[in-house]
Amino acid sequence: ATSVEELEINSPADFHVHLRQGPMSELIAPHVAQGGVSLAYVMPNLVPPITTTQMAVEYHKSLKALAPQTDFWMTLYLSPSLTAEEIKTAKESGVVKGVKSYPRGVTTNSDGGIENYETYYPVFEAMQEHDLVLNLHGEVPSDADKDITILNAEATFLSHLHKIHARFPNLRIVLEHATTRAAVEAVKACGSTVACSITPHHLDLIIDDWAGKPLNFCKPVAKTPDDRRALREVIASGHERFFLGSDSAPHPLANKYPSAATHGGAEALIGCGCAAGVYTSIILIPLCAHLLESFGALDKLEGFVSSHGRRFYKAPLSSTSQKLKLKRSAVEGEEGKVPVVCVHPDYREVGDERKDKVQVVPFWAGKKLGWTIAE
Ligand code: NCD
Ligand code: DOR
Ligand code: ZN
Ligand code: ZN
Repeated sequence: ATSVEELEINSPADFHVHLRQGPMSELIAPHVAQGGVSLAYVMPNLVPPITTTQMAVEYHKSLKALAPQTDFWMTLYLSPSLTAEEIKTAKESGVVKGVKSYPRGVTTNSDGGIENYETYYPVFEAMQEHDLVLNLHGEVPSDADKDITILNAEATFLSHLHKIHARFPNLRIVLEHATTRAAVEAVKACGSTVACSITPHHLDLIIDDWAGKPLNFCKPVAKTPDDRRALREVIASGHERFFLGSDSAPHPLANKYPSAATHGGAEALIGCGCAAGVYTSIILIPLCAHLLESFGALDKLEGFVSSHGRRFYKAPLSSTSQKLKLKRSAVEGEEGKVPVVCVHPDYREVGDERKDKVQVVPFWAGKKLGWTIAE
């Protein structure tokens, strides 16, 4: 087969991204467009979490100020304070499109997350009525007494997915950042109201790639080669209920590699972990093209990064008359090279530890991608 040299696809959307707040947000919000995405579906796990429509509207405003050319769709953080009344308000806002459910304690800033899904049935009922999407972080909390660890937390969660789907068949549900064959099979077995987001990093990483390697460490953790194969296969099959949600989740370098200097000495470091999250926004669509080509699915790129997700979320394809053009990276030179580090402009000349808080190392830093966005 002859290999294509250029691609033109409908404008991509990223249906799961962390855009943070403060200086980190200033650094990375513009990277969404740089990575080829025109619509970003934004996670609510800020400090404090986005729990009300008013907060979401404010956050939306701040993101728009940083990246006027990007469309942002907002989410609320599922918590006991969320009411059916607030769901109605959220829908009416026009900017809130869904609600993200976090398992208590599983991942970054999820301490205020869910414990028992039945508690939220009145909220789900209202979401079904007003057609907001439920975004499930599909992991149960680890519990050694029940043999639950980060390796089987997702597979164990799937009974919750089936139960919620059976009880609310018209509620649109997305199982976020699937990492296992079991999750892929579970979503396939559900009806048309259940979909699944997949990250590019989970198309690449397996367990061995994150053990002891902070930059590849994220939640849910990457699993086995067979799990990775299942993710690749479902994309290669062109299944319409599977689409891109990058889970791009930047953390300052200082939180990936905590040092005694920045954490108050050796004593403060003891028991201190490494933050979970992989940063991909700045290279997102070229990375997806590179990965899909690597497993023979380049012809499914447009579906995966654009049309499947837009269709499920009812985001009109036609509102984005702009297309994205990609070209093969030149063999020689810097084209397609992933930045080694991204630093907030105000801190580029700073030589001390303040810089560590506003610099992020992207996934595949320094590697060369086979595809580049054509200007
Ligand atoms: C989280 C998310 O999904 O929103 N990241 C992740 O799940 N991989 C962020 C979080 O849970 O805090
Ligand atoms: O790796 C992750 N990082 N997984 C999550 O669920 C949350 C996220 C974050 O916000 O850093
Ligand atoms: Zn999540
Ligand atoms: Zn996430």
